[in-house]
Amino acid sequence: MVIKKIAILFSGSGSNLEKILEGVHGRSFSTCKIEVACLICNKKDAYGIQRAKKYGLETTIIEHANYEDRESFDRKMVEVIKASGAQLVVLAGFMRILTPEFTKNVNAINLHPSLLPLFKGAHAIEDSYNSGMKVGGISVHYVNEELDAGEIIAQECFKKEDMNLEEFEEKIHALEHKLLPKTIIDILDNQK
Ligand code: GAR
Repeated sequence: MVIKKIAILFSGSGSNLEKILEGVHGRSFSTCKIEVACLICNKKDAYGIQRAKKYGLETTIIEHANYEDRESFDRKMVEVIKASGAQLVVLAGFMRILTPEFTKNVNAINLHPSLLPLFKGAHAIEDSYNSGMKVGGISVHYVNEELDAGEIIAQECFKKEDMNLEEFEEKIHALEHKLLPKTIIDILDNQK
């Protein structure tokens, strides 16, 4: 069976990373087996690094602070991703703005905690909670040179009703934990 390799980039807790390791890594689907070939984190103390160790996977730490500009940081990540043989890069809570050095050289998808194109940026959960909208949601989209603006691949939404911010955030994460693994499988197994 064909093996398809992915790279995962993260910056923090890594709960979405863990769902991918649990439900996708090393598993066979109808047309391929998917393997995580590369993990990159830009924060040396991120909890996701410990989560990955439970699955026997080491994370390459590439600290953005050690690079003189965004381009040289991005070039280093592309070098590591290419060396791993990954054909799809998954941004799972990776909190850095990427330059064309990255976006033009790898095929990447990003998870974002809002119904794009609404509420782009780093405060999407608070912004969508505080908006007048009756629904909240999540998106998975292709990454291009514009922040949170590439083609949307999949979305889920839910009614806010009388949720407080904590419940709203929990609902978002619960949906993310299902949608991101499913989207990776859909892309690689169905060649969407
Ligand atoms: C997720 O909610 C993801 O949507 C968000 O970071 C969180 C990572 O959680 N990403 C962004 O806001 C990207 N702009 P995790 O580290 O527990 O997977």
